[in-house]
Amino acid sequence: MVEPIVFGQSGNSFSRALMFVHSNVRTSFTRAFSLPYSSSAAASISSVSSPVKDRRQKWRQPIASLLERGGVQITREEIVRDEPTNNVPDTIFTKVGLQLHRRSQHPIGILKNAIYEYFDSSYGNKFKKFEDLCPIVSVKQNFDDVLVPDDHVSRSYNDTYYIDPQTVLRCHTSAHQAELLSSGYKQFLVTGDVYRRDSIDSTHYPVFHQMEGVRVFSPSDWESSGKDGTTYVAEDLKKCLEGLAQHLFGTVEMRWIDTYFPFTNPSFELEIFFQEKWLEVLGCGVTEQEIIRRSGNEENVAWAFGLGLERLAMVLFDIPDIRLFWSDDERFTSQFKEGQLGVKFKPFSKFPPCYKDMSFWINESFTENNLCEVIRGIAGDLVEEVCLIDNFTNKKGMTSHCYRIAYRSMERSLTDDEINDLQWKVREQVESKLKVVLR
Ligand code: DAH
Repeated sequence: MVEPIVFGQSGNSFSRALMFVHSNVRTSFTRAFSLPYSSSAAASISSVSSPVKDRRQKWRQPIASLLERGGVQITREEIVRDEPTNNVPDTIFTKVGLQLHRRSQHPIGILKNAIYEYFDSSYGNKFKKFEDLCPIVSVKQNFDDVLVPDDHVSRSYNDTYYIDPQTVLRCHTSAHQAELLSSGYKQFLVTGDVYRRDSIDSTHYPVFHQMEGVRVFSPSDWESSGKDGTTYVAEDLKKCLEGLAQHLFGTVEMRWIDTYFPFTNPSFELEIFFQEKWLEVLGCGVTEQEIIRRSGNEENVAWAFGLGLERLAMVLFDIPDIRLFWSDDERFTSQFKEGQLGVKFKPFSKFPPCYKDMSFWINESFTENNLCEVIRGIAGDLVEEVCLIDNFTNKKGMTSHCYRIAYRSMERSLTDDEINDLQWKVREQVESKLKVVLR
């Protein structure tokens, strides 16, 4: 059911910002769990030496072996392990300490502060803010505590980064809801980096940022309204988020979509009409009573929401590719200033893409996310898109996939030699790590 709301304006089409929606939001979802795949191996540079590789290795930043989060030191070994139950590559480890959301001159930090501003002014500074909670969480925090079913696809090694069978890199900021509720917080915002194995295109990156908001109501809040708690809280939630969207986008057309999340009931998504398309910007709902009951707030009712900061920032700042958020190039970073929401990004010259196709016979455990992890492990942010362009099954039942890989740097022209070298390594590692047969 779609409930259009007033206001007027436009955006990009993104998909899969929200992981737990019932609909076909993550197209790469497979019901079957794929085999644990150790991509720490995928991230290492090929052992086969070539002159070009040696040259490129000199450009690479060394991988720090120690990070600091919230005053706590995290070693590489705590996150990346060469074991089949660990699928975290070095490329992911290097992102754990960066915390783009805490940089006040970065679009993600500017957006976070604009959202804080809305909550501070609408609720008299009552929302407690958390933005340095450690992204290493237990499976219990990430999934069980928010009632994600045992067979939910988001628990698979194909979708989530596992450090060991009981520990993950959080795939959503909802991982902190239950504990904060149990600790007695009644209104809070949690901002943080979240991690998901995914395909590669201009709006998907394995690390991105979310903000979670929760507000708990007690019976005295709704009793005089003549409404039941759930109705009252759902109305308050929608009012709050419509106000937020207006604060960020100005006059904008919005609509609510009924959806499903394991942790809320009823559940909604808010879509914004932007650049001629409906863009899903957040998921929310009335928190499942079981979560509230377990936190010791039995008689209360709460709402919660989760929004993807990159997705909103891409629209607000006109940022065309999600990789740019990670760029240290001054031509990107110098365009944003503290407190200036919605300054339009002026692209510096766009360098030409180079396309390379590769075809192979897949096997039963093949997944596109595993393929993308191997490619990212080799090409890093030089890969812009990986797209399935052909797919057929022959009479013997063998299935062939042809993928087109787009290589493009955001910062410079790539040489033919460099791309050929990358592609050669990709072919070699796709064959050896994914056990597919190149055609
Ligand atoms: N955790 C959800 C996701 O990442 C987003 C979300 C939806 C958070 C609804 C919530 C919520 O708190 O109530 O897809």
